[in-house]
Amino acid sequence: MRILSGIQPSGKLHLGNYFGMMKPAIELQTRGEAFLFIANYHALTTVSDPARLRTDTWDVALDFLACGLDPERTVFFRQSDVPEITELTWLLSIVTPMGLLERCHSYKDKLAKGIPASAALFNYPVLMAADILACQSHLVPVGRDQKQHVEVTRDIAIKFNNQFGEVFTVPEPSIQESVAVVPGLDGQKMSKSYGNTIELFGDPKETRARIMRIVTDSTPLEAPKNPDTCNVFALYKLFATGDEAEALAARYRAGNFGYGTAKKALAEAFETAFAPLRRKRAELAAQPERVEAILQAGAARARAEARRTLDAARRAVGIA
Ligand code: ADP
Ligand code: TRP
Repeated sequence: MRILSGIQPSGKLHLGNYFGMMKPAIELQTRGEAFLFIANYHALTTVSDPARLRTDTWDVALDFLACGLDPERTVFFRQSDVPEITELTWLLSIVTPMGLLERCHSYKDKLAKGIPASAALFNYPVLMAADILACQSHLVPVGRDQKQHVEVTRDIAIKFNNQFGEVFTVPEPSIQESVAVVPGLDGQKMSKSYGNTIELFGDPKETRARIMRIVTDSTPLEAPKNPDTCNVFALYKLFATGDEAEALAARYRAGNFGYGTAKKALAEAFETAFAPLRRKRAELAAQPERVEAILQAGAARARAEARRTLDAARRAVGIA
């Protein structure tokens, strides 16, 4: 089974990205042939500062390697190092109905946020389809917000195969339902566009201070509390074992337990999980040639795959 996912380098990665996409995608590397890439052409639809795009792209590479992506198992690459993907985008756009793209929530949401409606923003799902189809992926692990894009990819693949012959594998999305939405500091979905994130590799002191600022209700200290409606508990649960979560939930329900104590438990759980990853990341950051070599080797493997697919697609439409 071939598994592929990608992430845009459009800001510092946070716990929502980690539990919603990175961790499940990294774990899937043991279940099949995994491909993971940094979608820098996608990021260009919203990032207009070249220096920022460069830094964010590099940071995403370091973050994934520090979080356990094993380049021996996972083909890890930058989207822009595989030009076959952008060439395939054109061939796919031939069979993509405008209406299919007009219905995409992500496009409509971005317009609503005031992002200008460029042709690239509109075509974003076709580029995403090319990422997925170029590598003949079976499974695409993404957060729930990306499910529609995988469905669009399926529609495009089926349409192309019907019109020109069987060229593409039709993929399935894989959604981590148990951590479907990680809440941010304010209880909304954690997202860099809401300024409510807990960064994976931010300054440790600042991270702790942010955890202490998570919004909670005003139940008095003595009163019993409901862990299931608390943002702090929702985040703690992601780090804890079942027994640890149950133990903290019991303290909530017993009363005489302040949210500050829960926040400290969360800050410690975060530190226990991320301190070793932070050290690993610093080691990698000190060896840029090694990281670049990993990305180049990944690109070579992805290119071989994408070339085969592109050649088949070109033959199918009558170009080659
Ligand atoms: P952001 O909302 O910060 O811009 P992206 O849209 O770039 O994040 O998301 C990258 C990946 O991380 C996607 O697969 C997305 O589904 C997942 N993701 C982002 N935020 C969350 C969250 N709060 N909970 C679960 N998954 C998330
Ligand atoms: N659009 C995805 C996001 O914003 C990133 C992405 C680009 C992707 N190409 C992909 C995800 C292919 C999975 C497969 O999160």
